[in-house]
Amino acid sequence: MSASTATGAAVGIKGLRKAFGAKTVLAGIDLEIGRGEFFALLGPSGTGKTTLLRILAGLELPDAGTVLAPRRRTTVYQEPRLVQARRVLANVTLGLPRSAREAGLAALAEVGLEGYGGAWPATLSGGEAQRVALARALVRDPELLLLDEPFAALDALTRLQMQELVAELCERHRPAVVLVTHDVDEAVRLADRVVVLREGSFAVEQPIDLPHPRDRSDPDFIAHRRLLLSHLGVTGAPH
Ligand SMILES: Nc1ncnc2c1ncn2[C@@H]1O[C@H](COP(=O)(O)OP(=O)(O)OP(=O)(O)O)[C@@H](O)[C@H]1O
Ligand SMILES: [Mg+2]
Repeated sequence: MSASTATGAAVGIKGLRKAFGAKTVLAGIDLEIGRGEFFALLGPSGTGKTTLLRILAGLELPDAGTVLAPRRRTTVYQEPRLVQARRVLANVTLGLPRSAREAGLAALAEVGLEGYGGAWPATLSGGEAQRVALARALVRDPELLLLDEPFAALDALTRLQMQELVAELCERHRPAVVLVTHDVDEAVRLADRVVVLREGSFAVEQPIDLPHPRDRSDPDFIAHRRLLLSHLGVTGAPH
């Protein structure tokens, strides 16, 4: 995997194929993601969203095709994946030199956890733990931020707050983002572009050019939601 694309995009994927045994998961995907672009990936369970993310993270190899992604990339998962035996700040700076301490404290402050550096992971709420995971990603100053259903395990109110926080952080730091989610509203609220992955390829690719912050009752928002839901096989959805 190389660090830059010919067009200067953050991510360049061409003819990406991936199968597990007899099951083809990604059947020839082409995708470019611009620097600072917020890209969201929807799709039914088992369609290969996490597989695509893992390939972008360099954790999985494609069977065919080319994948160009920045070296500075990091992933936030559905669970915070904190090391329980390390305090919060040590989790944020895990694997980094001691000099990263100040940046770690700044990242904690940015996610609203000033003063939590000395806390143990077991004492955190689910939302706080996920904020630590975000700080751990942020402190690495990623050019590509991979988010695999990062809010799915949170209650509805915390999820909305976390969406707002991620929107703010991405606005400030401008990484390219790939957000995997099952929540259509979340995708339309946050992303510059949304695709639906179905049967190995993109069933629809939908640019969302609405101003931020986005209003869910805006007729354009509702139109995007309905179109994406119809590609997910949901019809007659409430609006
Ligand atoms: N290492 C593996 N070995 C064998 N099969 C795998 C492996 N990783 C993924 N798969 C299969 O590939 C398919 C896609 O999996 P993936 O985790 O990418 O789906 P997903 O779209 O992220 O689903 P979900 O929405 O449930 O998270 C599934 O059928 C899964 O069982
Ligand atoms: Mg998945």
